Amino acid sequence: MASSAPASASGSKVDNAEAFQGKVKLAVCQLSIVAEKQQNIDHAREVIEKAADDGARLIVLPEMWNCPYSNDSFPTYAEDIDGGASPSTDMLSDTARARKVTIIGGSIPERSGGKLYNTCCIYGSDGKLLGKHRKMHLFDIDIPGKITFRESDTLSPGNTFTVVKTDVGCIGVGICYDIRFPELAMLSAAKGAQILCYPGAFNMTTGPLHWELLAKARAVDNQLFVVTCSPARDDGAGYIAWGHSTVIGPFGKVEAALEEKEGVLLLDIDLSEIETRRTNMPLEHQRRHDVYQLVEITDRNRSAL
Ligand SMILES: *[C@@H]1O[C@H](CO)[C@@H](O)[C@H](O)[C@H]1NC(C)=O
Ligand SMILES: *[C@@H]1O[C@H](CO)[C@@H](O)[C@H](O)[C@H]1NC(C)=O
Repeated sequence: MASSAPASASGSKVDNAEAFQGKVKLAVCQLSIVAEKQQNIDHAREVIEKAADDGARLIVLPEMWNCPYSNDSFPTYAEDIDGGASPSTDMLSDTARARKVTIIGGSIPERSGGKLYNTCCIYGSDGKLLGKHRKMHLFDIDIPGKITFRESDTLSPGNTFTVVKTDVGCIGVGICYDIRFPELAMLSAAKGAQILCYPGAFNMTTGPLHWELLAKARAVDNQLFVVTCSPARDDGAGYIAWGHSTVIGPFGKVEAALEEKEGVLLLDIDLSEIETRRTNMPLEHQRRHDVYQLVEITDRNRSAL
């Protein structure tokens, strides 16, 4: 698979030579979110435990699952993940270890060095933190007289790609708005990702038009699995999420999808389909690396710009 990863993109590659290639039972948890943080944590734990009891090995949570999705709740609900004051991620780590499951921990507001981030933590089946993705593209919108939502008023962006090797495959993470940027997906694929997970909360305008389209596009472009995971819809919330958490296969097929209500998608995905699709349609070998390129900017080469 390493040789056929779609990589007109150049970036440091994750060592995924031994990456898992078979069937994985996946659980995508579209959680209802309430105002009380501890209640969100307890509920997420119950849903994860139930999914593990049902045989899931890889469990995905939604964007901002410990707090209401609003500008003013981010600072209040934020946790210092690296500093050890993080009940939300402690629960994820404990549950991953206790149930021997890999968890893509949706996202929570993270406080670090005086800044706030929209952050996804990934835990391996031993409970260890495998990676942390800070939302790279912040959602700022200002249409006069209609809608203003500026994530960048409160949040700072992350500057790094997140692709981690787990015992259920090599997984890349983006958060919500990140899915609109094909470059992130391409570079993650070039690093070896077999599944791209996007915790996200699209709204009632962009959801119906773009949510499934973007997930399909990222899957077909890169010939890999794409998982989107939204909070359940709450019509009384300040921000009304579209829901519709979805799993797309490497040939663009909708493997499973929810509607707007709370629910869990439980399904087997077969990672070997990636290799089959890439062999049948070898986009990587037909890409014109001699005419164009996509290059990751790292600290090493950033200063040269
Ligand atoms: C977001 O929050 C910041 C500070 O908490 C505030 O200054 C700003 O006006 C808020 N923006 C919106 C659109 O609510
Ligand atoms: C959703 O967000 C889009 C911009 O991405 C905006 O144009 C639209 O008005 C929003 N819709 C609702 C229902 O808030």
